[in-house]
Amino acid sequence: MDGSLLYVSRRMCTEAEIGDIVAVSRVRNASLGVSGALIASRTRFAQFFEGPPAGIATLMDSIRRDDRHTGIDVALEATTERRRFSGWALAYIGSSVFIDGLIVTIAERATPCPDPGHLERLIRAMQEFAQGR
Ligand SMILES: Cc1cc2nc3c(=O)[nH]c(=O)nc-3n(C[C@H](O)[C@H](O)[C@H](O)COP(=O)(O)O)c2cc1C
Repeated sequence: MDGSLLYVSRRMCTEAEIGDIVAVSRVRNASLGVSGALIASRTRFAQFFEGPPAGIATLMDSIRRDDRHTGIDVALEATTERRRFSGWALAYIGSSVFIDGLIVTIAERATPCPDPGHLERLIRAMQEFAQGR
């Protein structure tokens, strides 16, 4: 069964560097059978993956080593029956006030486990932005 994973992190790079990340990611994610979405706000990233657990683990090994962001915090890891971003090796979504607020709410939570309602709202917002393109 496919897995899914969502993390938030602190952005440490420019728009141009994000462009490079997205270009490399679309090729590599497709080759691993992984789909998902990346959101960048001015100060944060949120990224959602779904696909074979081994593919997601391979990507996360690279992503954890990458110094273009820091403070990587896995907020959700689950199995999934139905992909939400099929057809998207990596949808890229720029900043929006609504989404930035949700990322901060999840990143700055007081408990180890985020509120499932906040996670669902963030993933649904990512889907809506991706489908609007
Ligand atoms: C916020 C962020 C998201 C990233 N997302 C992906 C991704 O979805 N897929 C990917 O292949 N690389 C992604 N990368 C880039 C990887 O960290 C890494 O540079 C790239 O996969 C090359 O892997 P390697 O350094 O192990 O050769 C991301 C980097 C950052 C900072």
